[in-house]
Amino acid sequence: MIETVVAPKQGALTVAQLDPLIDIESEINKLRREKNAVILAHYYQAPEIQDIADFVGDSLDLSRKAAETDADMIAFCGVKFMAEGAKILSPQKTVVLPDMDAGCSLEDSCPPDEFRKFREAHPDHISLTYINCSAEVKALSDIIVTSSNAEHIVRQIPADKKILFAPDRHLGAFLAKKTGRDMVLWQGSCIVHEQFNERELVKLIVRNPDAKVVAHPECPDSVLRHAHHVGSTKSLLDFVTSDANTKFIVATEQQIFHQMQKARPDAVLLATPGADGSCSCANCPFMAKNSLEKLYLAMLNEAPRIEMPEDLRLKALKPLQRMLEMSPPAQPRRNAA
Ligand code: 13P
Ligand code: SF4
Repeated sequence: MIETVVAPKQGALTVAQLDPLIDIESEINKLRREKNAVILAHYYQAPEIQDIADFVGDSLDLSRKAAETDADMIAFCGVKFMAEGAKILSPQKTVVLPDMDAGCSLEDSCPPDEFRKFREAHPDHISLTYINCSAEVKALSDIIVTSSNAEHIVRQIPADKKILFAPDRHLGAFLAKKTGRDMVLWQGSCIVHEQFNERELVKLIVRNPDAKVVAHPECPDSVLRHAHHVGSTKSLLDFVTSDANTKFIVATEQQIFHQMQKARPDAVLLATPGADGSCSCANCPFMAKNSLEKLYLAMLNEAPRIEMPEDLRLKALKPLQRMLEMSPPAQPRRNAA
């Protein structure tokens, strides 16, 4: 594996050394001005990080923002593959990530050497790869997709072309079902969405017959089949924002409740339970590694910082650019009805 994260220098200030009385928000704002930085955050970040960000979005909209920003620094509050994507698309910028261990189970499930063998075993297949993967796996792929553009992109692949899909088997199965295309699937999954349990979900639906279910396509089919709406984080947020219903069961990471509740203060939001009936499984441990303190230090220390060999970046850029070219036009967030 090629290491793409540069750690802070020896002696750089750490969280443990921070003055506990520091006004962290105003220090971040100061650095944002001084370093001409833009703060990008995913919907799965803690509410206080979402609130200080210049832009909060799903993987596709965050990639677009990273590609078009004129800031000198991108402080990416998400996980490593997202920050890598920003660096691939905006190589001149300094891209920092609050915690260098903010990884992803989907990325972990797909080591580049194994993925190379997978491709070699299917030489006549085009490879569509979910953005939740390493830069090295991107570099071995034909087209990158996210949960918001995947179906649109699959429908542009000629009918006689065979498709490999990696690394999320649930998103792949969902796409195969929706488009009727046969796909060879890599067997990876998201540890958050994988834990949602059909039996417990059905119990919750029975207790709340007036609720609509919204689900991310990283969920297993046994959960998706109960959903009124399936889509990316932004798409789920748009649905909850504009649908007339006032109760929703949400099958995705729970930090998205922050934006949903802001958009629909009148709505009741229920978390989808895991197998033991609890809902604490809906938190991504990787996304949760970031904090305001770590964001401040990353901006101050300019590390953890994404760096990668230029030949790797150029190889990974190609399928990412194809993704942007084949995506539907960007849509602003929907307003409440
Ligand atoms: P989207 O925000 O693109 O739907 O992705 C969800 C996710 O799991 C990111 O890690
Ligand atoms: Fe990866 Fe799942 Fe966490 Fe998203 S929620 S970063 S897919 S582990």
